[in-house]
Amino acid sequence: MDGRELVRAARVFTMVRGPRAMRSAWRRWRAEARASLPRGAERARVPGPVVDAEPLPGGGVVRFARSELLVRVASSGTVFWSWDGAAPRPSYALAGDPPEPDARAALEPDKDGGWRVVSERVTVAVSRNGAVEVRTPGGVVLRRDLPPRWWEPVAGGPARWVQRSEVPADARFFGLGGRASGPRLREGTYRLWNTDPRGSFGPDDDPLYITMPVQLVVADAGTHLAFHDNTWDGRVTLREGGEGEGSGHDRPGLSEVRMSGGPLRCWVVVGTPARVLRGWTALTGAPALPPAWALGPQHARWGFGSEHEVRRVVAGYRERGLPLSALHLDIDHYDGHRVFTVDRKRFPDLPGLARELRAAGVRLVSIVDPAVKVEPGGPVYRGGRAAGAFVRDARGREVRGVVWPGECVYPDFTDPAVRRWWGGLYEERLAQGFSGVWHDMNEPVSFTPFGDMTLPRSARHALEGRGGDHREAHNVYGLAMAGAGYEGLRRLRPDERPFLFSRSGWAGMQRYGGTWSGDVSTGWPGLRASLSLVLGLGLCGVPYSGPDVGGFDGSPSPELFLRWFQLGAWLPLFRTHAAIDAGRREPWEFGPEVLEHARAALAGRERLRPYFVTLAHLARLTGAPYARPVWWGAPEDRALRDCEDAFLLGDALLVAPVLARGADRRAVRLPRGRWYDTVTGSAYEGPGQVLVDAPLSRIPVLARAGAVIPVRGEDGAEELEVWAPAPGRTGGGVVVRDVGDGWERAEIERYTTRLVDGAVRVERVTDEGVVAVAARVRVRGLDAG
Ligand code: GLC
Repeated sequence: MDGRELVRAARVFTMVRGPRAMRSAWRRWRAEARASLPRGAERARVPGPVVDAEPLPGGGVVRFARSELLVRVASSGTVFWSWDGAAPRPSYALAGDPPEPDARAALEPDKDGGWRVVSERVTVAVSRNGAVEVRTPGGVVLRRDLPPRWWEPVAGGPARWVQRSEVPADARFFGLGGRASGPRLREGTYRLWNTDPRGSFGPDDDPLYITMPVQLVVADAGTHLAFHDNTWDGRVTLREGGEGEGSGHDRPGLSEVRMSGGPLRCWVVVGTPARVLRGWTALTGAPALPPAWALGPQHARWGFGSEHEVRRVVAGYRERGLPLSALHLDIDHYDGHRVFTVDRKRFPDLPGLARELRAAGVRLVSIVDPAVKVEPGGPVYRGGRAAGAFVRDARGREVRGVVWPGECVYPDFTDPAVRRWWGGLYEERLAQGFSGVWHDMNEPVSFTPFGDMTLPRSARHALEGRGGDHREAHNVYGLAMAGAGYEGLRRLRPDERPFLFSRSGWAGMQRYGGTWSGDVSTGWPGLRASLSLVLGLGLCGVPYSGPDVGGFDGSPSPELFLRWFQLGAWLPLFRTHAAIDAGRREPWEFGPEVLEHARAALAGRERLRPYFVTLAHLARLTGAPYARPVWWGAPEDRALRDCEDAFLLGDALLVAPVLARGADRRAVRLPRGRWYDTVTGSAYEGPGQVLVDAPLSRIPVLARAGAVIPVRGEDGAEELEVWAPAPGRTGGGVVVRDVGDGWERAEIERYTTRLVDGAVRVERVTDEGVVAVAARVRVRGLDAG
């Protein structure tokens, strides 16, 4: 433990009444020691030489002396391969049945005694000693997985395994869940174990709350996603490759996945970035569509402390004419920090408050922590006990930990019956007037002054009836809790789409909602980490997220707060939040200048709400994140692959936040084509880098020539903002309108744009034909210099 960690540990420790956490840490240590599963002697194994092969739909089984490899290509081109007979199911990641095998994919003998599966979209070649290559139909190698190695305990138990893979020398790695140091993942080892980093975190802290064995690899040869469907503790070591200048010898990029147990099975999705995310969401589920109000500005704080303070903050927004869509109540509104309770002294009439705020257009969102205080008289504890809901040890005793309310037990969300019981408890939240929930501490956390702040690895879990321990259940605890909350809300209020976001999660969590940064540290590095998390998670299929604007702890300088606010205004979840002992985060607390610029950022967000609605629908339909790396449409542009300080918001906008102190200009790397500065109207031609103004009043945002962007006009009604196509080019866009908070299907409107005699012609393309659109169209960029 280094000095910094020690300080953090001390802080958490003192916050939760030291002796209790100490006792719990001690208990946990003893439990671990008693149940610690000494690995003892191990036997190493590799597949050995190829023996024979058998065709099956979509591919086949290739048998080796000491293992067998199943390869199956789906008609979508998605590849599944696994060793030792591992099937796609059971899986916490998959949304439904695995995709249908491609009936036309054929298993054929390959050179040197190997085999290959040839399909229209992809070829999978298996070498005679068990290396697996995924190639484009043109034969270019996207990924080469070398033969794995297992270590099996002689006395029985889960085998650990390692697999090294090579990717092209020019490839860049992204993903692995939420990583603060990205979005491009440089050389290093990234752990797969959802972790509360203790206090606030910066770019060097890893792992964080959401880890996923999902790598997105972008190379000249193409983009692919590789998902090792395994929930166990693991480590991924990455090394970018290099091109042998002059020597002609390229050094491939390397990935080494090491897992402490669980199956060795992998999904590989290939194509353009857009195709890859489409394939990934087809596999793991469409992102939940947030209600439109959740795309507006939101304000949270740990420690409002009373109804009075809530009213004061909401009035502060109203009196200054600042829009506010939702206000979030943290654990301080609970009675003694106990989930599903209300402190009636400080919040005597929460339903009344909720009604009053709702009438003023502000929703209430509630934090929900999983841990339940141990108290014989507590209804949640009693109910959970009666239902056998809490995680137990091998001897059948409840496993206890320490969280905000003190000594706690943990619902076992890997049990379907427990999920159902827990989901029912949200009735109380709805009765209090809340419109959405914010899941926290679900890695899950148990405070300890040292060591891993979670449940003992020996703790038992249902794992959907299969039974297992925390080593296997840990990483999906938050995901399964999200499932419980989402399904509960759906049952309780079937006509409304649930609004849920969760600190921890795993592959597939987007089915239930989004996430947020967690406790990002206040400082310029924390600002940068915020963007990294949103972009990285988007590439792992989780499109709705955002940071604690202003940072979680301490007090940002007015400039830092403003730059964070200006970034947040262009991210899906736009929410200020801070710790109980942190400085203020209301935009008016930083002086009149910041307030005016924050007002402009809020106005910009409100204006763009129809575009955010469109992006939310597109994320659900296609898996494309709202906020995308700048290489999204041009992964072959190597300079874009390395650009980490800007992002595309949908297809139409390029947002270039200011991430450094004192800057009033910044370099922006442009994808190909013409881009307009949305404020000055200046036109720039990409690809290339340009220097643009970034005064304190705003961050640069550029619009793609030809784009069609639905916005809220000055009169409040929607209009189309259309950016002139470059001469000789066409453009267009898709618009999806808000259909309310229910389940009604939205219509997709498609538009094209082109220049005709120096004017911009906008047409709507429908099944019946093409119609010119003129009303409520605002053309921009025609007079650009
Ligand atoms: C955790 C959350 C934070 C919240 C706090 C108190 O630190 O990440 O957002 O304010 O707990 O509930």
